[in-house]
Amino acid sequence: PEKGSLSIVVLGASGDLAKKKTFPALFNLYKQGFLLPDEVCIFGYARSKLTDDDLRNRLRSYLVPGKDAFPELLEKVSKFLLLIKYTSGSYDSEDSFYNLDKEISVHESLKNSTEGSSRRLFYLALPPSVYPSVCKMIKTCCMNKSDLGGWTRIVVEKPFGKDLASAEQLSAQIGKLFEEPQIYRIDHYLGKELVQNMLVLRFANRFFMPQWNRDNIANVQIVFREDFGTEGRGGYFDEYGIIRDIIQNHLLQVFCLIAMEKPVSLKPEHIRDEKVKVLQSVLPIKDDEVVLGQYEGYRDDPTVPKNSNTPTFATVILRVDNERWEGVPFILKAGKALNSRKADIRIQFKDVSGDIFKSKNQGRNEFVIRLQPSEAIYMKLTVKQPGLEMQTVQSELDLSYRQRYQGTTIPEAYERLILDTIRGDQQHFVRRDELKASWEIFTPVLHRIEKGEFKSTPYKRGTRGPAEADKLLLEKAGYVQTQG
Ligand code: BG6
Repeated sequence: PEKGSLSIVVLGASGDLAKKKTFPALFNLYKQGFLLPDEVCIFGYARSKLTDDDLRNRLRSYLVPGKDAFPELLEKVSKFLLLIKYTSGSYDSEDSFYNLDKEISVHESLKNSTEGSSRRLFYLALPPSVYPSVCKMIKTCCMNKSDLGGWTRIVVEKPFGKDLASAEQLSAQIGKLFEEPQIYRIDHYLGKELVQNMLVLRFANRFFMPQWNRDNIANVQIVFREDFGTEGRGGYFDEYGIIRDIIQNHLLQVFCLIAMEKPVSLKPEHIRDEKVKVLQSVLPIKDDEVVLGQYEGYRDDPTVPKNSNTPTFATVILRVDNERWEGVPFILKAGKALNSRKADIRIQFKDVSGDIFKSKNQGRNEFVIRLQPSEAIYMKLTVKQPGLEMQTVQSELDLSYRQRYQGTTIPEAYERLILDTIRGDQQHFVRRDELKASWEIFTPVLHRIEKGEFKSTPYKRGTRGPAEADKLLLEKAGYVQTQG
């Protein structure tokens, strides 16, 4: 591991993302004792005038699960909070950023030994509108200046733009100030345990490698459901909609890992090269392969315009124009205020040819990876119904993480990704050309939604979403409903 001081600056420290995700992830790393170096200091930065203790007190309840937490945990929380300092300032003021730089330098001079370098990580838990000015301030005032080496890195959150043009503009603005290896674009789905397992499943198992193609696979579904609406974030959501919020980033990243070719090695650049290639092989989305929905009651939110057409549900079919996947529909589906909270990948295999069992309800083989809740991997397959008759039935080979890995804590996505940023591993971060290719796929549809050329069909809260989506799956994607 690298030596020397580590300064983690959380910009937007009093905001929702920082409180709910960034600081708790940092605490989880700290709690494990060895993942953050002793030479760490965490700097919160935001506009509100707060003292160090104000910020610490605000954060405390996000770090402790309940009132009756174990005393050892409470002690760790208190120690962790003491590592946090607060600086207030605006996002475009050189004075404030020079001030921040001074604070960081004081910490560095206290912690750096002769061999130590200075590491500076800037986490932008901020709306993207301020990214350009904040990046400029960091570049002007706060870069690592140590002669002994070290680095300066920035972490940015989605949304990276609203369409191809705005994303490219943002990338160009940031790209002028920082080199690509310094920029960590977070997509937290890449930090999920079973998303990280995808490459292992595909490329370390003889079972799957020869099957993973158009000869055997009938269709692939990547589904995200939430059983709550956009309460409290209506203003943000209405500007973006479900395609930008979930599909263009989270589900598309999962799609890449399922559909890409085998990378030359596990080096981040090799993996990202393959992701870009498969994104570039996606054909333009067809009009009749999109279904949009909006749950009833969405517009009751005072921050949402009364005539909003923003989709809170979408099903989109992607088609990949290459030798492996020609003719195989990839169904990406996401919705808010549905009947359950679940994210899974379902890979449905083609029917067995020359079926000698003549059992109509036999069902297809399906390989399912449940990302959340309750991580699991299972294969639906046909077996003989135990008993005297020769009857077939669909059953499962089941790997439930909770049972199989009892006692193993599965790390939170943010925790793992922040650790990667400290270690300098970009494998699970989105590269600039990858981002561009992902916007190329969705921008035409998004523009047409904005022009009102695609309408969102209303659906009731707590349902499966619009019936048209199920129809689309049956008619255009050849999906066959299996049991369970
Ligand atoms: C965020 C979206 O990126 O992901 C939210 O903005 C969504 O709308 C969230 O609720 C879902 O993340 P997870 O990890 O709970 O599936």
